[in-house]
Formats: sequence, structure tokens, C-alpha cells
Amino acid sequence: MTASSGALDVAAGALWFREALDRQAQAALVADIRAVLAEAPLFTPAMPRTAKPFSVRMSNCGPLGWVSDASGYRYQTFHPDTRRPWPPLPAALLALWERYSGFPAPPEACLINYYGPDARMSLHQDRDEADFTAPVLSVSLGDTALFRIGGEERSGPTRSLRLASGDIFLLSGPSRLAFHGIDRILAGTSTLLPEGGRFNLTLRRVTTA
Ligand code: SIN
Ligand code: FE2
Repeated sequence: MTASSGALDVAAGALWFREALDRQAQAALVADIRAVLAEAPLFTPAMPRTAKPFSVRMSNCGPLGWVSDASGYRYQTFHPDTRRPWPPLPAALLALWERYSGFPAPPEACLINYYGPDARMSLHQDRDEADFTAPVLSVSLGDTALFRIGGEERSGPTRSLRLASGDIFLLSGPSRLAFHGIDRILAGTSTLLPEGGRFNLTLRRVTTA
């Protein structure tokens, strides 16, 4: 399958694969993520400079992981609290990248975001990677999120989409640097996670392929 077959073109290169994963595939991914989190627990990142804590908690798997603290945003090879290397990328995530990314080299990082009912993520660009020709592939699991996406200018027009459990979203090509964020989580919209809330997994290339 090509990267775009079955996708909704939200904007050029912003591809929304609704219900890409069935319930069984979603549950299997949640089990993979829980195994990762047993080794690399969720941590609370903080904003550069102000050190204000994020409302989203995070972890990573893969050779590199994205972290944020008072000294800034960056990728690093180890968990900021345990100092241990990130666990490997689960095979199922590598397979999703192969199927949907349209990019020849494998991902190097999977950022795991966990949103409780009150968590949100302000509008931002993913630009800590060296190669913007590689897409960012996102997988949503659990409660539906109100996702906002605009263009490359922060002040430009945006639109709002409901990302549901099992949806895959690709920021690629002309939309690779699109501003995006999560306005809020619609609590109780999914039964996938007994604790409620939402996991979002984003697969990224970090270095040039
Ligand atoms: C992110 O931009 O890192 C997360 C987006 C999402 O939660 O869908
Ligand atoms: Fe992002």
C-alpha cells in the first residue's frame, strides 16, 4: 500500500488514516507500551527556562528519546530519571512505520505521550530532528483527542480534528513542520485503557538517513 491510500488529506502531506488499527491491534500495542513503561516509566517533562511542568507525561523507546527540561528540548539515549537506555522499539511499531511512513530508513525514536483527562499540549512544531524529509507518524490509543493543526506559521489558520483510538496521522512533506497541538481529551470516549486517558505514540527519524 502506498503512504496515502485510504488516507484523508487534511492538508498536503497531512494524512489521516482513520481506524487504521482494529481493537485487537490497539490492545496489542497497549501491551507493548506497558512493557516499555515497566522499564522506562512515564516522567514529567518541564518547559525550557521556566521549568514549568507539562500536563502530559512522557517516555520513549528506540535508540533515541525526546526530553525537555529547564536546559531545553533534545534527543538523548537514556531516560532522564533512571539514566538507563530507552527500551527497544516494539516490532509492531516498526511494522507500522514500514507500512505508513513511505520513508526508507527506520524510525529512531518513539515518543510516548500519556494524557490524563486534563492534559493538553500547546501548539508547536516538531523541529528537533535533523532531517525534515522523514515524516512524523502518530498513533492514537484510548480517549479521543481534539487535535489542532495549522500550517508553518504559528499565527496561520488552523483546523480541529478528533483523533480517535486506532487512528494514525502522518505529518509529512509540505506538512512536516505544520503547527499542531492537543486542545483537550474527551474523557470517557474509549474503553481501551482501564485507567482512562490517551496514549499518543510518535515515531520519528532524528538523524539524517
Ligand atoms: C505531539 O505533538 O507530540 C503529540 C500529538 C498528539 O498527541 O496527537
Ligand atoms: Fe508534536
